[in-house]
Amino acid sequence: MSVPEARFWEVFFEVYEALPRQGPGNRACAARALSLCRGLPPSPAVVDLGCGTGGQTLHLAGLTDGRIVGLDRHLPSVARLRAAVAGRGLSARVLALAGDLARPALPPERFDLVWSEGALYNIGIGNALRLCRGLMKPGGCLAFTDAVWRRDDPPPGVKAAFEQDYPSMGRAEGVAAAVEEEGFELLGRFTLPDEAWWDEFYGPMERRIAGLRGRYAGDAEALSALDRLAEEPAMHRLHSDCYAYEFFIARRPA
Ligand SMILES: C[S@@+](CC[C@H](N)C(=O)[O-])C[C@H]1O[C@@H](n2cnc3c(N)ncnc32)[C@H](O)[C@@H]1O
Repeated sequence: MSVPEARFWEVFFEVYEALPRQGPGNRACAARALSLCRGLPPSPAVVDLGCGTGGQTLHLAGLTDGRIVGLDRHLPSVARLRAAVAGRGLSARVLALAGDLARPALPPERFDLVWSEGALYNIGIGNALRLCRGLMKPGGCLAFTDAVWRRDDPPPGVKAAFEQDYPSMGRAEGVAAAVEEEGFELLGRFTLPDEAWWDEFYGPMERRIAGLRGRYAGDAEALSALDRLAEEPAMHRLHSDCYAYEFFIARRPA
């Protein structure tokens, strides 16, 4: 059944906003990426671009002694992060800010560490890299994840699923080259392991969808929207050999 767009997005956000995070990643990957950064001060100034409800923002608050700004354009996600920050007594160190990462109202060259998981592609990786560079202190570090193809011949359904959201998605080698072309020193990169897709993202998503199916029993539009949302983790179960999330860690030369 076809679901009106507005209704689909209503259900989409009902699922996504309740998740610990809105994309693949976990604390272990954040810790590994952080360990690849070089020359960070003991209390780094950090900005997390496209933070969502702040899964990784909160990991970073635990993994560093820094001050962290989480920025996202989706106001309900920012509100959730704000509540989590207050609930954990982190308000002195973590600020959740609403804003567009393409035009962040943030001071230039202020951050020791620019972080972004699964969000930079929204404004084009080249554009995002230039923007991140402008926010970073000379010698500062950048850590971000990006979806990449692992195979040149994914099944048409898998290709179509990514093309909707990320038509210019490329290979990890291409992103690494773009990082270096923008004048960064690439410090390392690694592929997120499968548990980073499931533990904090697809696992909670499938449980949330199952819960909402009960609440919406009899609401054909909502159930159809939930069916559509369930396709993504189901596709990953079958075709994770075709695509990956890659963490890139780079440094702006001093
Ligand atoms: C795939 S989610 C990742 C969220 C979070 N980093 C995580 O890994 O859980 C992408 C996030 O980027 C945000 N986003 C997309 N375009 C944005 C923009 N132009 N400015 C600010 N946030 C943006 C979305 O609202 C969403 O929260």
